[in-house]
Amino acid sequence: KYEKIWLLFGIISLILFLSIVGVSAFGFNHHPSGGMETIDPTKVENTAPFDEPGVKKLEDGTYEVVVIAEAFSFNPGDIKVPAGEKVVFKVTSKDVTHSFSIVDTTVNMMVVPGRVNTKTFKFDKPGKYLILCNEYCGGGHHYMSTEIEVV
Ligand code: CUA
Repeated sequence: KYEKIWLLFGIISLILFLSIVGVSAFGFNHHPSGGMETIDPTKVENTAPFDEPGVKKLEDGTYEVVVIAEAFSFNPGDIKVPAGEKVVFKVTSKDVTHSFSIVDTTVNMMVVPGRVNTKTFKFDKPGKYLILCNEYCGGGHHYMSTEIEVV
């Protein structure tokens, strides 16, 4: 009688073990790089959405802002979005690591080549906001800035 109990215990342990292994493998496969989208940095201009940098209104009413960072500028240089709407920034780099930081907001993300770096933000107040690169990226780093107009 005891043998049966031990056998049952063994089988349950085995199933438990296999399901833990299975769950971790499953979870790992679904987050190969921490859930980040990747991109070939040498083909940025041929890869959607970066083949069309700029502001686009999506079907669900949010605004997508696609920006390419490179030493030492942001493309496009003029960005205009409405206040009070959800804005999704998608930024990638063609060369080295930059940052995309909008002064006086919580938008302050690293822009890593090979990755699509995303941040969602809603501007409450209209006005002009300064976008800076906060990551040292070379000789022109201090000049790497642009403006975003919130209307
Ligand atoms: Cu780009 Cu500093």
